[in-house]
Amino acid sequence: MAMMYSEKVMDHFMNPRNMGEMEDASGVGTVGNAKCGDIMRIFLKVDEDGIIQDVKFKTFGCGAAVATSSMATEMIIGKTVQQALEVTNKAVMEALDGLPPVKVHCSLLAEQAIHAALWDYAKKNNVTIEGLEPPVDDIEEIVGDEE
Ligand code: FES
Repeated sequence: MAMMYSEKVMDHFMNPRNMGEMEDASGVGTVGNAKCGDIMRIFLKVDEDGIIQDVKFKTFGCGAAVATSSMATEMIIGKTVQQALEVTNKAVMEALDGLPPVKVHCSLLAEQAIHAALWDYAKKNNVTIEGLEPPVDDIEEIVGDEE
């Protein structure tokens, strides 16, 4: 069964990067997936120039959710909040050499939790992030009937 997952997915699942919590986060976002009961929380540390200095994630999630979150945190550290918005779940999956089709929705947890954390940051600091939509509580609001 392990063959279903790329080596990169296995690596990020076995050795997740940036897992944990943050006391003094600039923004925090939480989303769930009612279908599987999984939950993802993202903490962002953003400096005065709007650059993401640190990210942590915490999840009650499956292996694919862990791996995509781990990769997503690595991809947005050092980016501006605007650039972070452009890191899609598709880009994260590509960076991981793909996910099995049934696990694609899991990658949305990281993407949407990042968006929710960016929203929180933007609200608290009175900044605008171009194209950022109000966060959802549950990714089913996005995938909806597609599955
Ligand atoms: Fe729930 Fe993967 S099965 S996020």
